[in-house]
Amino acid sequence: MHPSRRKNPLLSSVTVAMKHKKNSNLSVFVVVFSVFLFGVFMYNEDVKSMAEFPFSWPKSQEIQEEPSIEANPVPETMKKDTEGIVSMNSRTLSLEEPHGHQDSDETAQESDDNSNSSNATNKEDEQKIELPLVEEDEEEVELPPEECDLFTGQWVFDNATRPLYKEDECEFLTAQVTCLRNGRKDSLYQNWKWQPRDCSLPKFNPRLLLNKLRNKRLLFVGDSLNRNQWESMICLVQSAVPSGRKTWRKEGSFAIFTMEDYNATIEFYWAPFLVESNSDDPNMHSILNRIIMPEAINKHGVNWKNVDYLIFNTYIWWMNTFSMKVLRGSFDEGATEYDEIERPVAYRRVLTTWSKWVDENVDPNRTMVFFSSMSPLHIKSLDWNNPDGIKCAKETTPILDTTRHLNVGTDRRLLVIGANLTQSMKIPVHFINITTLSEYRKDAHTSVYTIRQGKMLTPEQQADPTTYADCIHWCLPGLPDTWNEFIYTRIISHS
Ligand SMILES: *[C@@H]1O[C@H](CO)[C@@H](O)[C@H](O)[C@H]1NC(C)=O
Ligand SMILES: *[C@@H]1O[C@H](CO)[C@@H](O)[C@H](O)[C@H]1NC(C)=O
Ligand SMILES: *[C@@H]1O[C@H](CO)[C@@H](O)[C@H](O)[C@H]1NC(C)=O
Ligand SMILES: *[C@@H]1O[C@H](CO)[C@@H](O)[C@H](O)[C@H]1NC(C)=O
Ligand SMILES: *[C@@H]1O[C@H](CO)[C@@H](O)[C@H](O)[C@H]1NC(C)=O
Ligand SMILES: *[C@@H]1O[C@H](CO)[C@@H](O)[C@H](O)[C@H]1NC(C)=O
Ligand SMILES: *[C@@H]1O[C@H](CO)[C@@H](O)[C@H](O)[C@H]1NC(C)=O
Repeated sequence: MHPSRRKNPLLSSVTVAMKHKKNSNLSVFVVVFSVFLFGVFMYNEDVKSMAEFPFSWPKSQEIQEEPSIEANPVPETMKKDTEGIVSMNSRTLSLEEPHGHQDSDETAQESDDNSNSSNATNKEDEQKIELPLVEEDEEEVELPPEECDLFTGQWVFDNATRPLYKEDECEFLTAQVTCLRNGRKDSLYQNWKWQPRDCSLPKFNPRLLLNKLRNKRLLFVGDSLNRNQWESMICLVQSAVPSGRKTWRKEGSFAIFTMEDYNATIEFYWAPFLVESNSDDPNMHSILNRIIMPEAINKHGVNWKNVDYLIFNTYIWWMNTFSMKVLRGSFDEGATEYDEIERPVAYRRVLTTWSKWVDENVDPNRTMVFFSSMSPLHIKSLDWNNPDGIKCAKETTPILDTTRHLNVGTDRRLLVIGANLTQSMKIPVHFINITTLSEYRKDAHTSVYTIRQGKMLTPEQQADPTTYADCIHWCLPGLPDTWNEFIYTRIISHS
């Protein structure tokens, strides 16, 4: 059972030695500072309501959101500052611009039509199928050198090997992400391969991964972007499991994909802030007035113990307000008072809590831990110099010029915190730096080819991307497949 025979890294065809060195403290400071400026104007109605993203569960009922208490929570002074920055950075959409969202995305999660998925659990055709228990394809896999920076590189067009699976061949995709089926006409967004500058990602072999997952659990923990990635992971491997031998179910905060023949699961756990919050209900979490308990994680954490592969993220839920509301006391004790704390300060507190939990509860001999950096939004087409664009809605190609400075409003202060913290932990954590490479993918969002509150957008809604385009989530097949290629690479490299 040694499916991933390693080639000697020295013999692999990649240029190992070209580790780039460029992180002078100065450039880090410049980035952090300019990011801080942009962080200031991440705050606009658009993002606020966009951030009320659909988190879809099959068969969940629609929930009416109470009217927004925070119709306009930006302090007057901050608005002034922000506007100054807007003009300075030549973004012309003003914060005051009405986006017409107020009544839309703020309502409830999407209940998507995942009926096909539930049907996939039918065991009608459950004739016993002989599965190769010992891997037959002992294909040599060329692994990139451990020290190669996988996240610096470029997108290359490759319609020969991409996409890694077909949209209509993965029955487990929810209607939230099946963009072609939902009416998207262009499909080139599926044909881009991430090419690291100094090495190459190994060819994705589902069987190889499944053999690593045998008798194991792989768990994504976080928000709907991690759920997006969870769906991608299922589709990446499911073709290697015969029909009838794979099932899907929801169980509290969990969604669990099971491959019986491997005694393996690929799971997702809803915890958008990782720590306890008032948004933890997997069905009724669309809450504008978000409040967290930055030091409380055990209630969730108990569900993550004894898992073999853990992949964490938290970002999008932080983005609807500048500051984060931190509960004084505990939800259990009925506390309702809170303090408002600057986003990066609260984020650091949360990740510190999380890192302590990992250090104290993870057995590094058993479990690999990953932390994904932020998945970016594409809300202002002027960010990539397209004055005729409407959010991400008209984009059909990635940004290919990686030399020009790109700023789509990502709060990079949080990236630095995550990167830094994961480096200083007792348990090794693989930091999956998806942010910059995803920022190039303005073409890859679900846009208007998605669902909202459980229903496919109507033609009228699709014709109004200013209001309805989802520029947070991603079509599948698509970008999250690449994120999973990083996870795959680490897993199969690990003996
Ligand atoms: C499953 O598929 C059958 C037809 O094969 C259909 O009648 C049934 O409604 C489906 N179940 C769900 C939950 O969608
Ligand atoms: C899948 O779902 C769609 C709509 O949700 C339905 O039209 C189609 O018949 C379903 N396919 C299967 C195989 O159940
Ligand atoms: C993340 O990757 C980008 C390149 O994609 C790089 O410029 C940036 O420095 C990396 N950030 C961290 C914190 O590693
Ligand atoms: C791949 O792209 C090339 C160039 O655009 C095109 O000529 C070719 O037909 C494409 N192949 C497939 C399978 O789509
Ligand atoms: C199945 O997997 C679980 C962990 O996911 C493990 O505890 C159990 O021992 C496995 N069962 C067998 C029969 O190997
Ligand atoms: C991990 O394995 C090593 C060697 O087998 C052992 O010395 C160490 O105590 C183990 N660590 C834990 C936390 O079990
Ligand atoms: C990152 O960590 C280093 C040392 O661990 C520390 O000096 C630096 O201030 C940290 N930077 C940030 C932004 O947290």
